[in-house]
Amino acid sequence: MIVAHLTDMHIAPPGGLAYGAVDTAGCLAACLAHLRGLDPSPDAVVLTGDLVERGTDAEYERCLGLLSQLAMPVYAIPGNHDEREAFRRSFAYAGYLPASGYLQYVVENWPLRIVALDTVVAGAVGGALDDGRLEWLDARLAERPAMPTLVMMHHPPFVTGLTYMDAQGLAGMNEFATVVARHPQVERILCGHLHRAIVARVGGTVAVVAPSTAYQLALDLRAEAAGAYVMEPPAIYLHQWRHGQGMASHLSLVGDFGPVRSFTERPGRAP
Ligand SMILES: [Fe+2]
Ligand SMILES: [Fe+2]
Repeated sequence: MIVAHLTDMHIAPPGGLAYGAVDTAGCLAACLAHLRGLDPSPDAVVLTGDLVERGTDAEYERCLGLLSQLAMPVYAIPGNHDEREAFRRSFAYAGYLPASGYLQYVVENWPLRIVALDTVVAGAVGGALDDGRLEWLDARLAERPAMPTLVMMHHPPFVTGLTYMDAQGLAGMNEFATVVARHPQVERILCGHLHRAIVARVGGTVAVVAPSTAYQLALDLRAEAAGAYVMEPPAIYLHQWRHGQGMASHLSLVGDFGPVRSFTERPGRAP
């Protein structure tokens, strides 16, 4: 099974640009064209939040219009830029979101089980996992301890070293790690929010932050770093699970990097 992991699309209203400069819808369209060109095709797509810029119905409509190009199932959770009720309304057709409360759910019937967690605090940049959300996670993971599992969440549950982001990180991350450590079937924790490819160990498993499909955070590990973005290439992750072999996570950059060249090609030699 291959799970494509896209995040932080930040779709603006029609005609709008993020930060007045970034055509986020065009960026997502490029990522989706890239995804549709993959062989083998991913079996499912997960979106780890910040689907849109301000959480309006018009933005979700535009986002879903782009996502409708995909033939495989798409599982989404909100980020701090999303608005919970508009998100719920927009994705109601998919059938996996609860009718009320946090946007948390479980996806069964795949070789990988997906547990989707809602870390959003309305109106805040940072996220939180309070006792209720952690108990829900613990109970869901306890249901199928032998089933390889992905946990998806917007806010990464670790300190990144990007100080201006860590200052508004995830409350409850230590308690989250304690819960995950009780459930060794968790193969990966898939995150967004940081707009960079970052990997860390959390609760004995591997947490992966995917880059944004649009713009990336500037990599600045100085303690006094200020928030800034950079137009490094968008990318998606491909998490491949093979029974008996485990999971490998591949970063797939989106852009024109020239042709794929055979190792057996020789300059000047006719094909
Ligand atoms: Fe974001
Ligand atoms: Fe975010």
